[in-house]
Amino acid sequence: MSSEAPDLNRRRFLTGAATVVGGVGLVFTAVPFLSYLRPSARALAAGAPVELDISKLEVGRRIEVEWRGRPVWVIGRSQEQIDALEDVRDRLRDPDSEVDQQPEYARNPARSVKPDVAVLVGVCTHLGCAPGFHPEIRPQHFDQDWRGGFFCACHGSMFDMAGRVYRGVPAPTNLVVPPHRYVGDDYLVVGEDPTDEGGTA
Ligand code: FES
Repeated sequence: MSSEAPDLNRRRFLTGAATVVGGVGLVFTAVPFLSYLRPSARALAAGAPVELDISKLEVGRRIEVEWRGRPVWVIGRSQEQIDALEDVRDRLRDPDSEVDQQPEYARNPARSVKPDVAVLVGVCTHLGCAPGFHPEIRPQHFDQDWRGGFFCACHGSMFDMAGRVYRGVPAPTNLVVPPHRYVGDDYLVVGEDPTDEGGTA
């Protein structure tokens, strides 16, 4: 495990010399071949940004990384899934993200910098369970008019593909969107804003 400072890691990242590291302590879901540059354990504990190569992120797939001790999901959304965000609007508790659960630049229907990429903290806002990922637009046992999203089996909370919570479920708020920015088309930094050096909104 590297003990390098995060600024050195970032410099390597920006110059394209990214290091591919094994998944100790981090979990990849569905896209196991993606690479990322992982800060040291000490830097992670201090809240260091996590940098990922998302050039191979596939539509409808999710990868998971750890940031500040919490799982963060990065999800490729299809146009159909983006369109479905409007379909469920009337069923949502906070469709316009009025509660501060996201940075200002993610206060939009997709709750993200790029509509086709969702970045969400994977922790239910009820009591902290990990919601299940159900991206398919088809009837589910918990909802016959399901338009894709997340279902928390602990107490039945539902969230759409932007992490917006449905009305009438125990979870009180939308899922958290962490700070995130892009470096070019292929790299995502979780834990930094687009206004930080080198980022693109
Ligand atoms: S922890 Fe998710 S519904 Fe209760």
